[in-house]
Amino acid sequence: MRRFLVAGNWKMNTDLVSGTTLATALAVGASESHGEVEVLVCPPYPYLIAVGTATKNSAVLLGAQDVYFEASGAFTGEVSVSMLRDVGCSHVILGHSERRHLMGESDEVVNKKVRAGICGGLAVILCVGELLSEREAGQTESVLDRQMSGGLNGLPAEEAMDLVIAYEPVWAIGTGVTASPDQAESAHAHIRKWLAKRYNSAFSDQIRILYGGSVKPDNAQILMQQPNVDGALVGGACLKAENFVPIIDAAKMLALAGSGLRQTGLSGLS
Ligand code: PGA
Repeated sequence: MRRFLVAGNWKMNTDLVSGTTLATALAVGASESHGEVEVLVCPPYPYLIAVGTATKNSAVLLGAQDVYFEASGAFTGEVSVSMLRDVGCSHVILGHSERRHLMGESDEVVNKKVRAGICGGLAVILCVGELLSEREAGQTESVLDRQMSGGLNGLPAEEAMDLVIAYEPVWAIGTGVTASPDQAESAHAHIRKWLAKRYNSAFSDQIRILYGGSVKPDNAQILMQQPNVDGALVGGACLKAENFVPIIDAAKMLALAGSGLRQTGLSGLS
């Protein structure tokens, strides 16, 4: 059975004091979720060490929001996989829509980063999702297919066991407009089907697919209750412990309720 993952993407927010305070509060707030739910925080690079220290020996894992694909050398401003490992990161978010659409990252670049991250021992959270115009043009599934095949190009199943996919419709990110549970489930089921076809159904069945885009305490449960939604990638609502902890608690409640509230496996597939 897939374990819920609730991940916070701090983006370019917080400072040293507020980030450390938030991390300390999350280490306490997530302490009772250990086992049922994986909790991850992804602060800005400069705060990774401080946040890692504040969450040490807690249930909270540490991740980064991006990484460069080269191992070392003259790449001014970039950060490598081994540097992230060195400061305690277990995860990295890649292909986030803000990197794709604001920084112009192509599927090819995302793929190089995915391969470098996985090769270097990081669990990669690969973000995919359509623009509003693409959804309105009926292109959601073809966009997801393109981002999935581009992002995972050349990656064999045996190397991708720690892969996590985050479905984040761009129109839902930071807008307060959340995908409906049906819209989320339909995209997630499509992604799982894609994984089964590209790899195999056993592989696809164990890969977690997170939903991201205006997840809040009051919609987290209904979204994560969908059979193919295995957690959340949270932006705005992860910056305050009083918002993020209830999202972790919603996942924990669903995990403890098991299949009574939530189906598992490939049941959402046609
Ligand atoms: P949001 O961001 O929760 O603020 O919509 C989600 C994300 O960008 O990962």
